[in-house]
Amino acid sequence: MADFLTEIKRRRTFGIVSHPDAGKTTLTEKLLLFGGAIQEAGAVKSNKIKKHATSDFMEIEKQRGISVATSVMGFEYKNIKINILDTPGHKDFAEDTYRTLTAVDSAIVVIDVAKGVEEQTEKLVAVCKTRTTPMIVFINKLDREGKDAFDLLDEVEQKLKMKVCPLSCPIGMGSTFKGVYNLYEKKLVLFDSHGKQELGEVVEFDDVYSPELEDIIGERAAKQLREDVELIEGVYPPFDEEEYLAGRLNPVFFGSAVNNFGVKEMLDCFIEIAPSPRPSPTEERMIKPTETKFTGFVFKIHANIDPNHRDRIAFVRVCSGVFERGKNYLHVRHKKQYKFANPTAFMADKKDIIDESYPGDIVGLHDTGKFVIGDTLTEGEILKFTGIPSFAPEIFRYAENGDPMKAKQFQKGLEQLMDEGVAQLFTVKMNNRKIIGTVGPLQFEVIQHRLLHEYSAACRYEPANFFKACWVSCDNPAELAEFNRRRSQYMATDKHGRDVFLATSQWELNAAEKAFPDIRFHFTSEF
Ligand code: G4P
Repeated sequence: MADFLTEIKRRRTFGIVSHPDAGKTTLTEKLLLFGGAIQEAGAVKSNKIKKHATSDFMEIEKQRGISVATSVMGFEYKNIKINILDTPGHKDFAEDTYRTLTAVDSAIVVIDVAKGVEEQTEKLVAVCKTRTTPMIVFINKLDREGKDAFDLLDEVEQKLKMKVCPLSCPIGMGSTFKGVYNLYEKKLVLFDSHGKQELGEVVEFDDVYSPELEDIIGERAAKQLREDVELIEGVYPPFDEEEYLAGRLNPVFFGSAVNNFGVKEMLDCFIEIAPSPRPSPTEERMIKPTETKFTGFVFKIHANIDPNHRDRIAFVRVCSGVFERGKNYLHVRHKKQYKFANPTAFMADKKDIIDESYPGDIVGLHDTGKFVIGDTLTEGEILKFTGIPSFAPEIFRYAENGDPMKAKQFQKGLEQLMDEGVAQLFTVKMNNRKIIGTVGPLQFEVIQHRLLHEYSAACRYEPANFFKACWVSCDNPAELAEFNRRRSQYMATDKHGRDVFLATSQWELNAAEKAFPDIRFHFTSEF
């Protein structure tokens, strides 16, 4: 076995978050190229659900197949083992992304220089913040005209509530873009707009006041750069690794992913400062990665796209110890021991059977339905990892069995899809009708399509006009019973049998909160 502590220390498990189109796929691809994990550009291009084909089933299916391979992209760079966890950018798959973010130790946030901070970025950064995930910002597309760098930094601070610390300073933009000054390594990185020098020319340059600067980037740009560096040094805090690791300071880099510009600088800094596996919270205690006994949790379940094999892959994040192939582990919810003969590790575009995995790694376990999202595996200890919540859905439909001969398949299919976390299922208390709740409309089509193709079951939808489903709790059981009685037609249960209130409008929700001050309304399933 390789040295356990060294293996932990050299791991970096992270996710790239952005609004669609900011350049996440392009950046991922460049990072993989540096790691030698892929040989040509374009290899991971197709891992996203194309925005133009949002309601095309076959497209979804195809993309789903590809995204198994790109769910985790592992590679080695300068003796560091990097695991990139893919986060779907499409907003209808936001829950998938939120859950994946529970399995990362840090994140890179990509922002389009022209569009600035967009809606999806705000949401994803907010999720990272709840977990104090350290984040680095990459401002992309500097080869195009965009917002003024300082205005953009202000926007990042305001909208993303970040304290930023620029580690590079752009020189010009769009047609006048000359490169960046890397403040972290004191280097000038020059941009070649013809793209001949893919990595750009790098000049060691530790003093921007040296007259040589004029010779290299010209008088105007030199003057501007000096002013900008002065401004950065005067206004923004210096880089502090501890503050970054605590999630309180966010280094910012500028570059152009498609031109592979500024990417290497960020990556070199990333492997130095980004955290190795961090401790993971459970209901019982904090799990340190250095503990020798294995623990891990399921953060994602992916169904096989081949309808003839209804098996799935459960993605387990190793939190402590070493996961070993063929060893017995306790499935805490089932209170049963299982061993896994063919665990897989993910290396860029392929997966391999592995014998052991270390904290920070993601293991793919072949599953025939024994896992649900959030399940824990240990060497015997009873633990429940926390911080893997479901979010209050906002789009609802009644789901009815469309074929009386296939009631069982319908029931089973629906349950399994919910275990995978495709959507949430609620049962109305009054009449036992099933309601599916999602965060995006695309899920309804996915469910219908998959029920038909994987379970031969027909699903019919009927409109359900609810505004939000929230979990309710109360210290006083009599009060909760009274709430259930007074709101009986809006009460449902989730899959764990917990009380859920289906509000028809914001007004209705406010009214309920006012009328029942002792009842707590929860907007995530963890409370
Ligand atoms: P996403 O995964 O965040 O959705 O974004 P993706 O990488 O697919 O990039 C979105 C578009 O932005 C792509 O163009 C991509 O080529 C372009 N892009 C990425 N980085 C840069 C950059 O540094 N500068 C410029 N100018 N463009 C960049 P597309 O036309 O949508 O796709 P494609 O036809 O180029 O593949």
